Amino acid sequence: MNATLKIGSLELKNRLLTAPIAGYSDRAWRELCRAHGAALCYGEMISAQALCYNNHKTLDLLDITDEEEIRAVQLSGSSAQYMAQGAQIAAERGAQLIDLNMGCPAPKIFKNGEGCAHMADIKRAEGVIRAVTAAVSLPVTVKFRLGINEQSRNYLEFAQMAEAAGAAAVCLHGRYREQFYGGAANWQAIAQVKQAVNIPVIGNGDIFCAADAATMLRQTGCDFVMAARGLMGNPWLIEEILAAFNGLPLPQRPAQEEIIATALAHLKRKVQLSVNCRLKEGLDKKTAQKEGEHYAVVAMRSLMCCYLKGMRHAASARRELMLLSDYQQIADFLYGL
Ligand SMILES: Cc1cc2nc3c(=O)[nH]c(=O)nc-3n(C[C@H](O)[C@H](O)[C@H](O)COP(=O)(O)O)c2cc1C
Repeated sequence: MNATLKIGSLELKNRLLTAPIAGYSDRAWRELCRAHGAALCYGEMISAQALCYNNHKTLDLLDITDEEEIRAVQLSGSSAQYMAQGAQIAAERGAQLIDLNMGCPAPKIFKNGEGCAHMADIKRAEGVIRAVTAAVSLPVTVKFRLGINEQSRNYLEFAQMAEAAGAAAVCLHGRYREQFYGGAANWQAIAQVKQAVNIPVIGNGDIFCAADAATMLRQTGCDFVMAARGLMGNPWLIEEILAAFNGLPLPQRPAQEEIIATALAHLKRKVQLSVNCRLKEGLDKKTAQKEGEHYAVVAMRSLMCCYLKGMRHAASARRELMLLSDYQQIADFLYGL
C-alpha cells in the first residue's frame, strides 16, 4: 500500500500525530499541539472498565470537544466486553476514532492483562479488536510494541492479526515491553510492518527533531509519524517536522520570552479546564478555583520544567519550580528567569 493520508474514513491534513501520553495529553495539550499543526492528537489512556462504571474522574479524562478536528480516544482494558462497551460510550460522547492500548509496559497495567500484556495472548487481543470494531462504526487503531521481549518478538503476526480483526491502522512503538523507554527504537520493524499489512501504519519511537521524523517516513515508508516525549515543552517541534516533511527550511526557534508565554498559556488553560470540571461537579466557585488551580499546577509542574530545557541554569530552575504550587508563583518565577 502506498502512503495514505486517511485512517478509515477520516482524512488527515498531514502525517504528524501526537501520541497518547498518560497525565499529559489532556485537552489543554491537544489544543496546543493542534494549534501548532498536528493532524491528530490522541487523548490520554482511559480505562474502559472505569468508563463502563461511569466513574466521574474517568469521564473528565474523556474531555473531548467538537472543536477538536479528530477526537481520538485511547482505551485500555483486558476484556473484550468492557473494551467494546467503553468504545460505545466514547463514541456516544463524541469520539471519532478509538485507539486500543496494547503497548503500555507499566507493571500495574500489565499485571491486569492490559496494555502490552495483549501481546502475550494474541487470541485474546484478537477477540478485543473484533469486539470493538463490531461495537462501533468508528475507525479503530491499535498501538503495540515489538513484543514482550526479544525471545517472544511477534509484531508482524500481531500487526497482521489486527488488520484481519478490523483495525483501520496500526501503530508500532519500536521497543519491547521489557525495554520500557530505554534503548533505541527499532525503525526497521516499522518498515517490515508496512510491508506486511495493507492498512496505514503509524511509526512511533524516538522522534526528537525534525530530521528524525522525515527520516522515519523515508526509511520505513510508514504513513504517519507519531511523536511523544520530543513534544514535551517543545510544541514548536511540530512546525519543524511539518517543514521537514515538505522539504522547507526549518522555522526559527522561539525566543525565551515566547517559550515562557507559551508555557504559561498552557498552564493557564489547564487551570481553567480543571476549575470548569470542578464547577460541573457542583463545587462552589471559590472552592472550584482553589482546588482546580492546585490540581492543575501540581499535575503540570513537571511539564513546565520541560519548557526550561536549554535555558540558563535550567537544572536549578527546575528544582525551584517543582516547589511552587500556584499559577502566580510560577508566572513570577518564569518571568524572573
Ligand atoms: C510519561 C509517558 C506516558 C505515556 N502514556 C502512554 C499512554 O497512556 N498510552 C500509550 O499508548 N502510550 C503511552 N506512552 C508511550 C508514548 O505514546 C510513545 O509510544 C513512546 O513515548 C515512544 O515515543 P517517543 O519516543 O516519541 O516518546 C507514554 C510515554 C510516556 C513517556
